[in-house]
Amino acid sequence: MNSLLQLPGRILYGQGGIEQITGRIEYTGAKKVLLFSDKVLRGLGMTIPLENAIAKAEVSLEIADNIKAEPSVADVEKTVSSIKEKRPDLLIALGGGSVMDTAKLAAVLLGGASYGLRDLLVNPLQAVKHCWTIMIPTTCGTGSEATCNAIVAIPEEQVKKGIVSPALIPDEVILDVDCIAALPPPIIAATGVDALAHCVECYTSKKATPLSDLYASAGARLIFANIEKAYVSRDKEALEKMLLGAFYGGVAITGSGTTAVHALSYPLGGKYHIAHGVSNAILFATVMEFNQDACLFRLASLCDTVYPELFSKAEGEKAAFIIKRIKEIVKNTEIPANLKQFGVKESDLEDLVQSGSRQTRLLVNNMKELTIDDIRSIYQQVMQGALYE
Ligand SMILES: NC(=O)c1ccc[n+]([C@@H]2O[C@H](COP(=O)([O-])OP(=O)(O)OC[C@H]3O[C@@H](n4cnc5c(N)ncnc54)[C@H](O)[C@@H]3O)[C@@H](O)[C@H]2O)c1
Ligand SMILES: [Zn+2]
Repeated sequence: MNSLLQLPGRILYGQGGIEQITGRIEYTGAKKVLLFSDKVLRGLGMTIPLENAIAKAEVSLEIADNIKAEPSVADVEKTVSSIKEKRPDLLIALGGGSVMDTAKLAAVLLGGASYGLRDLLVNPLQAVKHCWTIMIPTTCGTGSEATCNAIVAIPEEQVKKGIVSPALIPDEVILDVDCIAALPPPIIAATGVDALAHCVECYTSKKATPLSDLYASAGARLIFANIEKAYVSRDKEALEKMLLGAFYGGVAITGSGTTAVHALSYPLGGKYHIAHGVSNAILFATVMEFNQDACLFRLASLCDTVYPELFSKAEGEKAAFIIKRIKEIVKNTEIPANLKQFGVKESDLEDLVQSGSRQTRLLVNNMKELTIDDIRSIYQQVMQGALYE
């Protein structure tokens, strides 16, 4: 089997990276810059250092801050149509996965594309990038800055869908810890667990390869060791490691793929608007427990890299330890993990089961095949929410 990994063209990691945007704009020769962000981040003044650095490059700057969290198809279409006439030659995104995904889609939808967003949902491979893209994540996080994916909600189908195309991979990434230094703890928790799920799912995926393993295991090491510290104290070093771990998780996705945690999470995001990281946290340990027997060796091997002090333990103990740590992390970071809190009713179960079973793009990656009854049983367990109590 071939191993393929796709990486952004340039990755800058470290404090003060934002200031280097001036040189990067000069490098690209861009004259018209479009900055994507959202109203929360602008309200916090987080775009100001970036705007100042862009101003030094003496280019024209337009800002699109009407980006919605967990954007729907209509949200992305609205944003793209509001900037259609701007014809930027450089697109910079400062934000979480919602901003970065919208910007990545805008880069392939602007510039007279002959297809629209709904066409890309059917055939994403027709996407062509029309301008240079630089991603600056402010959550720790989706890893969208590294992936060729963009996720949109489809309200009429009450689900979310991933658009995957090589044209979506960003040209440059800036990982600057200053961008996540003031991240509210609940967002550190939810986005951090999302990043951990990327690493663990990619490592235990049927599509895992030596190249994706490298990033998935390195990301898991960073996140398992730092997420609780980052959540409790916003320790800068821990946050810096979370930012890197989240990026690694994104890289791992390009070579492997997430599995049943993400697959079954899409209906929760699509129908109940549960934030992506939270819906993954709700399912994470339950799905990994279901997968445990089929992934015993992989989970034990992950345990060897993350917790080498447990090397001499039996395979089953090591696999169980990784799952125990996932439960502890969700609990210790106080992520609301009971579906009832989000208004999900027993009578919604069959709709969830049907919708979950249609997430074949990711379900096929799962090491253990899920029958309809398995999917029903997993949703039933998370509805009771007992695992984390
Ligand atoms: N493209 C991919 O590979 C990929 C992977 C996973 C998830 N996603 C998608 O990404 C989206 C979720 O992204 P996310 O989890 O990063 O959250 P987000 O971008 O939706 O942001 C969540 C909230 O946090 C706020 N926020 C962001 N950074 C902040 C900061 N530094 N300080 C204060 N507030 C801040 C935002 O304004 C928003 O209100 C979903 O749509 C999900 O499906 C994409
Ligand atoms: Zn995710």
